[in-house]
Amino acid sequence: MNITIVGPGAIGALWAIKLLQAGHNVSLWSRSSEPSVDLSLDEQASISFSNNDKDKLSESDLVLFTVKAWQVEDAITPLLQHIDSDTILMFMHNGMGAVDAIADQINTHPVILATTTQAAFKPDRNHVVHTGAGQTQLGAFNQAGEKCAFLTEVLNHALPDVSWNPAINTALWTKLAINCAINPLTGLEQIKNGDLSKPRFGNTLIAILEELTQVMQAEGISCSFDELETNVNKVIQATAKNNSSMKQDMFYQRKTEIDFITGFLLKTAHRHQIDVPVNQTLFTQVKEQENSWKKQD
Ligand SMILES: NC(=O)c1ccc[n+]([C@@H]2O[C@H](COP(=O)([O-])OP(=O)(O)OC[C@H]3O[C@@H](n4cnc5c(N)ncnc54)[C@H](OP(=O)(O)O)[C@@H]3O)[C@@H](O)[C@H]2O)c1
Repeated sequence: MNITIVGPGAIGALWAIKLLQAGHNVSLWSRSSEPSVDLSLDEQASISFSNNDKDKLSESDLVLFTVKAWQVEDAITPLLQHIDSDTILMFMHNGMGAVDAIADQINTHPVILATTTQAAFKPDRNHVVHTGAGQTQLGAFNQAGEKCAFLTEVLNHALPDVSWNPAINTALWTKLAINCAINPLTGLEQIKNGDLSKPRFGNTLIAILEELTQVMQAEGISCSFDELETNVNKVIQATAKNNSSMKQDMFYQRKTEIDFITGFLLKTAHRHQIDVPVNQTLFTQVKEQENSWKKQD
């Protein structure tokens, strides 16, 4: 397939290399104006990719967006005029709501939502380290996207394990719940994920998940508090030594994905007239820090 990866950061560079190694024609679209970008994975030899080539973008069968949730709209808007309406658009990021915000612009395309637990780190602009194997789930955002389940095979061949989830919204909400529990607390406290198993966080985690359970059930997502708690505890154990993305973003004073994680929960709760005071407080605290960095600039 002809594939363009928009946003070749850690996750995008990992998929770019894996898809190219699986035999696809892969090009990149980045914020750099250079016509080619060299990328290497782990200890492997470097591969040269074409970058920001409008012809390759127009010829793409699949455009995979791996920018952060808050970067989606800015990334796609200038590109749409060059992308054929048959081209499949796939979005792979944490958080929810970014694709809904551009639905009117993209609904002529088959659109796929993806969520992944693959982990990657980009120590510099030309290297990516695959720091953890995980699962990727795909599902349709619109009716045309429902005909694209064949992409599961394509992506699975490149970087397993990939599966098609007809209830992708449930998978996205489950990931959102984990992110709501882990990200703001680890960011604000500047602690590793495993530190959340300390007793002093117990009540806060319970309150976060009780609020989430109410909102998810009001949204029609089948879930229980016990299931969410088990899931979150499993992730805290399995990623005990990891630094969450929000912890890192806050350490480096970079904009976080809070608007599309806890922020999305707050908007949904508001629509259902459900009070979520604990998540609201965490959201406000993260935003206060983000705003204080802006003032210093
Ligand atoms: N990294 C992981 O292990 C991991 C795991 C699971 C999920 N995720 C999720 O995957 C998403 C991407 O994460 P990441 O870690 O790969 O982030 P990242 O390294 O910051 O990658 C995002 C990339 O998008 C580029 N970009 C931003 N705006 C753009 C635009 N308008 N046009 C083209 N490119 C643009 C950025 O360019 P610049 O370099 O110029 O900023 C950067 O290279 C996030 O939602 C994250 O939460 C990440």
